[in-house]
Amino acid sequence: MTFTLPPTSSNPSFNPSTSPSSDPSPTPERAPRLTVIGTGYLGATHAVSMAFLGYEVLGVDIDPRKIALLNEGTVPFFEPGLPEKLEEALASGRLRFTTDLDEAAEFGDVHFVCVGTPQKLGSEAADLRFVDSAFTELASRITRKVLLVGKSTVPIGTAERLTALVQQISPLGAELEVAWNPEFLREGFAVQDTLHPDRLVFGVSSPWAEDRLRAAFEPILAEGTPLIVTDLATAELVKSAANSFLATKISYINAMSEVCEATGADVTQLAEALGLDDRIGSKFLKPGLGFGGGCLPKDIRSFKHRAEELGIGAAVAFLGEVDAINIRRRLRTVALIRQVVGGDLTGVRVAALGAAFKPDSDDVRDAPALDVARMLYLEGAVVSVYDPEAAVNAHRVYPDLEYASTLDQALADADVTVLLTEWEEFRTADPVEMGARVRSRTVVDTRNALSPDRFRAAGWDYWALGRPHTAPVPVSNRSESVLATLDKSADLPC
Ligand code: UDX
Repeated sequence: MTFTLPPTSSNPSFNPSTSPSSDPSPTPERAPRLTVIGTGYLGATHAVSMAFLGYEVLGVDIDPRKIALLNEGTVPFFEPGLPEKLEEALASGRLRFTTDLDEAAEFGDVHFVCVGTPQKLGSEAADLRFVDSAFTELASRITRKVLLVGKSTVPIGTAERLTALVQQISPLGAELEVAWNPEFLREGFAVQDTLHPDRLVFGVSSPWAEDRLRAAFEPILAEGTPLIVTDLATAELVKSAANSFLATKISYINAMSEVCEATGADVTQLAEALGLDDRIGSKFLKPGLGFGGGCLPKDIRSFKHRAEELGIGAAVAFLGEVDAINIRRRLRTVALIRQVVGGDLTGVRVAALGAAFKPDSDDVRDAPALDVARMLYLEGAVVSVYDPEAAVNAHRVYPDLEYASTLDQALADADVTVLLTEWEEFRTADPVEMGARVRSRTVVDTRNALSPDRFRAAGWDYWALGRPHTAPVPVSNRSESVLATLDKSADLPC
């Protein structure tokens, strides 16, 4: 079998609040049998969730190790709550995993393709090899009318191209239909987002395809989930447009942070004031080290690339600036740390708190945290990285960094402590106890996730981009210093 899937990077996490009894089940005579091609982060979550909702599901992957793990109830990546749901779905007898695509073609009425579309090496375009391969390999095996559904994020026009391709290959010819059903799940909330999405989007070419998708999502639609039924191109575009908007919102507030850095204004107060405007809203308006992960960065690049191919590059040229602002966060963070330690990082001990691209995930793809740690290391700093879940993946990417196995170990004798990923463990750590471990109480909060007041009261010199710097409270004579801080609270930046 030549069917290929992308190498799966490990990652994420989950928190479903749903129990099977609270979800309506699909009507048995209408319920299609489902396959999920590609059991990475998206596919495994989709397969488990659909089985949990009552469908017969077969998950397919070319990686026998991953299939064996899933069949024995082990999720090969970190996603809170998914292991419990996998166990339940396997116990129901409705979920199985296989490497056999012939079996999948025989089994499924609706096939969901969930393989990756990573960024091409040396280009901003998406690499569609895995998607093309999954569709064509399936099509060559299909002998009855079924629906092929893409869930992967793809450039506009892909579904139309794939339709022509599979119809050419399949003995069914024009009978074989392709639909597009983009996924919007966030790592860390993957099951919640799959079982209770904000909306469903069906990109279809016929009423039959719409009916098949309605049958495949019956329990979710029965909850009153908004549904947009549209054409293939619009369905593809919804995903690119949504991720571009989210990335733009983050880069917008980070651009404002640069203005704050030059003017002495406070970006956290600015974000709060902007977010209280209902039309703007506070979500995705958190200033800091910027976005990373396996989706937003590569999706905005691939969208821009596709628009250029279509001759409408000017329409989304701003995404290049969104990307540049985002990358600049990493450089400006390193510059701030260098400045804080006196201009030279050589031999400076850095406690780097976090490696994952965001909390509740072990995903280090395009992780701003790891990039900063690596840049500090390359400038001669001695960097000790601690992440509650992502250390193994981080080590695989950057084996030359030092990895601590606890927060205390990372903090030991640090000259500067840098919060890079806002895990709860870091947000709730006691600054007094932390202060007892380090050599110098200097903290750089790149995610605006710590309380400057608490840290200053514990004698730390607190720094964050886009916020005015206030001199630390002297460590000696701490109780008097705390009082002094309270007296002068009007001078503090928040
Ligand atoms: C994203 C989209 O949210 C999801 O709909 C899509 O299907 C896949 O891509 P995810 O990659 O899991 O999901 O991450 P998300 O929660 O969106 O966060 C993306 C990045 O933005 C993270 O690095 C996060 O730290 C950063 N971020 C988020 C900010 O810097 N500021 C914010 O206000 C919000």
